[in-house]
Amino acid sequence: MTTERVPFIAGNWKMNLDHQQAIALVQKLAWTLRDANHDYSKTEVAVFPPFTDLRTVQTLIDAEKFELTLGAQDLSQHDSGAYTGDVSGAFLRKLEVKYVIIGHSERRMYHAENDELIQAKVAAAFRHDLVPVICVGETLEELEEQGQSFIPVQQIKAALANHSQVGEFIVAYEPVWAIGTGQVATPEQAAEVAVAIRTAIAQTLTPEIAEKTRILYGGSVKAANVAGFLKSPEVDGVLVGGASLQVEEFSGIARFLKHLAL
Ligand code: PGA
Repeated sequence: MTTERVPFIAGNWKMNLDHQQAIALVQKLAWTLRDANHDYSKTEVAVFPPFTDLRTVQTLIDAEKFELTLGAQDLSQHDSGAYTGDVSGAFLRKLEVKYVIIGHSERRMYHAENDELIQAKVAAAFRHDLVPVICVGETLEELEEQGQSFIPVQQIKAALANHSQVGEFIVAYEPVWAIGTGQVATPEQAAEVAVAIRTAIAQTLTPEIAEKTRILYGGSVKAANVAGFLKSPEVDGVLVGGASLQVEEFSGIARFLKHLAL
């Protein structure tokens, strides 16, 4: 992390927690962070619940004036129309959703999302004033065959190509082999790929945009290993899956500054 880019701690709940369970978790999380005097201006904390929880979590955040920010896990590349089951970015924006995860490896894998579709979803996010959290990462096979930066760089270049309008975005480097496996990348690996991604952003867009874009690491992040990643000036936060469902663990991750002598 650097002082210019505010670290971003994101909890991707995936397909877990219904809207009632969401209330319990968000309340407990906000209270735990409040008790610990969490400074949200120094470390942003966002939750990414399933679609069916969004209205409930938005209402709760609003009523209690919690400083947590809200994200969604996906969006349609279309704005409206005959697309059964899809969710428009316009609807998300109406719910005060700020962030949207795009191109998570589980969507690439189970819903055959390719670079072209992901690029179109990123365009939809920009159109609706949402901040896309663009996920990139290589499988174990790709790591062995092409090295660790090749696929993430290719994926981010494709996601950012040919936009008529570019807003703020975040990139999450999530090696597929590290997601939900307990097998973590080393902080050095994460930093090396983050540098390659930042260079790719500078080439595809501009060096100024690259400099201000937050690049996260994701894959088996826990309170015990988060500080290692964020020690590097290249890594600006983490995207957390499993550990974001446990309040103690996730608030421990959000409070990573405690473990860094800054
Ligand atoms: P994990 O998931 O923390 O459970 O490995 C990360 C993610 O998929 O975003």
